[in-house]
Amino acid sequence: MFRNIFSSLLVLSTSLVGFSQSAARFDEATKVFRLEGANVTYAFGVNARGELQQLYWGGRIATADSVPAAIPAREWASFDSSYTTTAQEYAGWGAGLFVEPALKVTFQDGNRDLVLHYDSHQITSEGFKIVLKDIKRKVFVTLQYAIDPQTGIVGRSATIENREAEPITIEQAAAAAWALPAAHYTLNYLTGRWAGEWTLTQEKLQPGERVMESRRGSTGHQANPWFAIQAGDNPDENSGEVWFGALAWSGSWRITVEQDQLDAIRVTGGFNPFDFGYVLKPGQSLESPVFYGGYSDHGLGGASRLLHHFEIAHVLPRRIGEGEAAAPKPRPVIYNSWEATEFRVSEVGQIALAERAAALGVDRFVMDDGWFGQRKDDHAGLGDWYVNQQKFPHGLKPLIDKVHALKMDFGLWVEPEMVNPDSDLYRKHPDWVLNFPGRPRSEQRNQLVLNLARADVRDYVLGFLDKLLSENDIAFLKWDYNRNWSEPGWDQLPPAEQKKVYVEFTRNLYGILAELKKRHPKVELESCSGGGGRVDLGILQYADEVWPSDNTDPFDRLMQQDGFTYAYTPQVMMAWVTDSPHWGNKRSTSLQYRMLSSMQGSLGIGADITKWTDEEMATAKRLIAAYHQVQVTVVQGDLYRLISPRNGSEFSATQTVNRDKSQSVVFAFIHSTNEGRGFPRLKLKGLDAKTTYMVTPIEGELVHGSPTTASGAWWMNHGLDLDENFRGDFQAAAFRLDKK
Ligand code: GLA
Repeated sequence: MFRNIFSSLLVLSTSLVGFSQSAARFDEATKVFRLEGANVTYAFGVNARGELQQLYWGGRIATADSVPAAIPAREWASFDSSYTTTAQEYAGWGAGLFVEPALKVTFQDGNRDLVLHYDSHQITSEGFKIVLKDIKRKVFVTLQYAIDPQTGIVGRSATIENREAEPITIEQAAAAAWALPAAHYTLNYLTGRWAGEWTLTQEKLQPGERVMESRRGSTGHQANPWFAIQAGDNPDENSGEVWFGALAWSGSWRITVEQDQLDAIRVTGGFNPFDFGYVLKPGQSLESPVFYGGYSDHGLGGASRLLHHFEIAHVLPRRIGEGEAAAPKPRPVIYNSWEATEFRVSEVGQIALAERAAALGVDRFVMDDGWFGQRKDDHAGLGDWYVNQQKFPHGLKPLIDKVHALKMDFGLWVEPEMVNPDSDLYRKHPDWVLNFPGRPRSEQRNQLVLNLARADVRDYVLGFLDKLLSENDIAFLKWDYNRNWSEPGWDQLPPAEQKKVYVEFTRNLYGILAELKKRHPKVELESCSGGGGRVDLGILQYADEVWPSDNTDPFDRLMQQDGFTYAYTPQVMMAWVTDSPHWGNKRSTSLQYRMLSSMQGSLGIGADITKWTDEEMATAKRLIAAYHQVQVTVVQGDLYRLISPRNGSEFSATQTVNRDKSQSVVFAFIHSTNEGRGFPRLKLKGLDAKTTYMVTPIEGELVHGSPTTASGAWWMNHGLDLDENFRGDFQAAAFRLDKK
C-alpha cells in the first residue's frame, strides 16, 4: 500500500541511545499500540467500549514510559456523549457522533448507523494493520499505519470492505483522523488561485470547523492538501511544537480541522464527501489515499525540513537503475519555449531557441504547447496527438536530433486528459467527456475534460503517450491540466454508481503514470495544472517535478516559493527566468534578480533568449554555471527561511545547508530600501559550529572588512554582513559557504 515507502528504510536510527529499536509495539495488558520513529511517538489504544482511541502524538518518550490505557473522554451534559468527545482513530457515523466522521455509509435497507470497534490487529514490517468492524454488520475497515524511522512521519490509510450480502454506499471516507488535546493552537494552510498560488494563511484555531478542500475533481489552486498546527498563538519559524500533515491524493479532497465541544482538535482528511457516493457491492472494497502526519519541536522550519527529507527519500520517483537508495536526481536546468513563442512553435524557431539555450549551459530543451493537431491557439487540437505537419514537416526528429547534437535532452508538453470540441477526437467520441446527457457541457479555455475513469479513454490516453514516447527520443513530459471539472457525469454507469468518477478518474491517472514509467523508465514527468493546480504527495509519487505557478514574476515568486516550501521540497519547485518587464505585473527587474529568484528552486529559463544581448547571455551563463555547483545543496539540503518576504517585508533571505554540513548557500533579496536602511545582519543556521567555512559571493559583496573565512559558530552567532551598497529596489545577492 505504501508503494514500499518505508520498507527500504526500516533500519532504525541507532543514535537515539536508550530508545527501543522496535518501531511498532503492542502492549497486550493495556491494549496500547505504539509507533516510534526519529523524535516522534504515536500511540493509540482500545478502550473499554472497544473503540480505537488516540492517546498521544508528539515528542518521543522513553521506552520505559508506559502510555496509560485508553479511557473514553467525559460526556458534556446530555448533549455531547462520550462517543463524540472521545478522539477516535477512525469513527463511524452513528451513535450520536457530531464531529466529522471518518466513515459514513448507507445500507441497502436504509440503516445509516455505523459503529466501528476493534476486531483484530497485525504488526507489520512498517507499523500496524488494525481491523475494525461494525458492531452488528459485516463492514470491515483495515487501518494501515507506517512510521518512517528517519523523520517520524506516520503514513495512515483505510480500506473499507463490504462483507454484507447487499451493496452499501459510502458517503464519506477519510484516510485518517488525527487528534490533539485542548490547548491554544495556530493553524497554517496554503491558499491561492491561478497565478497566485501558495499563500501561507495563518489563524488561531477557534471553536467550530475550518474546511480546506477541492470540489474540482483535482487538487486545485484554491487550497492545497497540507496543514501545520503550531502550539500557541504565534506561529514561529524556528521553535515550538508543530503537527503537520499532507494528503496524497490528486482528486477532490477535504481536510477539516475542528475544535470540539471540549476544545480538543481533530483533523480529518480524505476523499471530499461533497457529491461523493461509492457503492461497494458484496465483497468489494475501497482503499483511501494515504494521509501523512508528522511532528517537530523546531517550529514551522523544522516541520518543513522533515517533510522535504521525507518527500525526497520516500515519495518522489527514485533514480532509475541505481538501486532503491539513490536519491532523486537534481533537476536538469531546462529551457521552456512557452513565454517566448506561446503557440507559434516551428522547427526553425525552436532550433534557434535551442542553439541559444545550449550556449547558456542548459541541460534540457522543452517544447511547450502548439506542436500537435490543428493547434494554432487554445481553440483547437487537444486530443489529436499527432505532429502538426505545417509546423514540423519532417516530424519531431530533426528538432530532437538537433537538441541532442547540442548536448541537451528533449522534453515535450502534453495535456492528455483534455479535448477541444474542435478536434478529430471529439468529433469521433463526443461521449468520452465528463457530461450529463442532455445538459450543457461547460467549456473552460475552449476545452472539456475526458472521462479518464472510462476504460476506453484510459486506454486511448495510455496508447497515444506510449506511442509518442516509443517513436521519439523524449526524456521528459510536461503533463498539463488546464481546467477543473463541470457536469461530472459518467453515463455508462447506473445512476447510483456514477459518483465513483471522483475516485476512478484519479486512480486511472495514477495507473497511466505508473505504466508509462514502467514502459519508459528514463522518462521524467512534470505535473502542471495551469501552474500549481495539481501539486500533492499523490502525484509526486510519479512526477519528478511540478510547475508551481504560471506567474513567473520574480518578486511574486519569492512569496510563492516561501509558501510552497512549507509543504514541498525545492527539489520539485521549477522556477523559470522570463522576460522583463513581466507580462503579469509589468514590473521591470534585472536579469541578476530574476536569476537569483529562480535559483532558490530548480532553475529553468523561459525567456525569448533569441533577443538577449551578449551581456545578458554572459550573465545567465555565469549564473547557470554557479548554480550547477551548488544545486544539490539548494534543492536537497536543509532549508532555513531566514527572513520571510511575506507581509510587505522590505527584505527576504533563505539559507540551505547540505546533509554533511560542508556547504551552505544564502540568498538575499531587497524589495525596496526605505530610509536608507541597510540589509539586516544574517545570522546563519544549521552549520557545524566547529567547522571553518569560506564565503564566496555568487552575486553581490560582503561588507568591506568582513572576514571571508570563519567558524560556523561565527556565521551563526555573529552573522553575515552584506555590503552597505546593497540597497535599492529589487536587488539580489547570493553567497556560498564551503568547508575549508
Ligand atoms: C498552462 C501552463 C503553461 C503553458 C500553457 C500552454 O497554462 O501552465 O506553462 O504550458 O498551459 O498552453
